Amino acid sequence: MSQKRVSQKSNTIPMLFTAAEIRDRVEAMAAEIAKHMSGEFVLVALLRGSFMFTADLVRELYALGLHPQIDFMTLSSYGDAAVSSGNVVITRDITDDVTGKQVLLVDDILETGRTLNFALELMKLRGASDVKVAMLLEKPGKLVVDVKADFIGFSIPDKFVVGYGLDYANHYRELPFIGYLDVH
Ligand code: IMP
Ligand code: MG
Repeated sequence: MSQKRVSQKSNTIPMLFTAAEIRDRVEAMAAEIAKHMSGEFVLVALLRGSFMFTADLVRELYALGLHPQIDFMTLSSYGDAAVSSGNVVITRDITDDVTGKQVLLVDDILETGRTLNFALELMKLRGASDVKVAMLLEKPGKLVVDVKADFIGFSIPDKFVVGYGLDYANHYRELPFIGYLDVH
């Protein structure tokens, strides 16, 4: 029953990146990350959208000999989309101490940059010695805050994407591929 629902859902969603394309790109990203990060670091995954990306990325990092400590943070944005000042709050904080440590932030998608900016500033405020960012997706031309990711999976067109962790109203996260919805 639930399997049927999933396959019906997936069939109606236009594909942007297949599971195989994502796997290849995550593997390549891990190689880029391994070139720029060495020694100990804390990987901070921003939930919930990055859970699948994080799980795949850390296994690729492991294959390259990188063994980060892994922690999770949930951030939420409040505010009307029509209002330009979105407010970011922590709904679940990390428990590791990042003081004096290298941090790799991992997130699903960079749009306005508000979420990433908040997380970056927070890690710096808490005394991280260096903060780098691995972002699965970015939508170019949508930034309202001056931030950038060090490692980017794919640049995508201005579509509302779901799957591989990304949601619409907390649905579609389980899809093994990235597709888009015709909501705008
Ligand atoms: P930003 O703070 O505007 O950069 O927004 C980033 C967050 O908005 C992401 O972590 C997602 O939770 C959400 N988001 C932005 N665009 C999309 C999309 O196309 N699909 C699903 N979530 C999105
Ligand atoms: Mg998110």
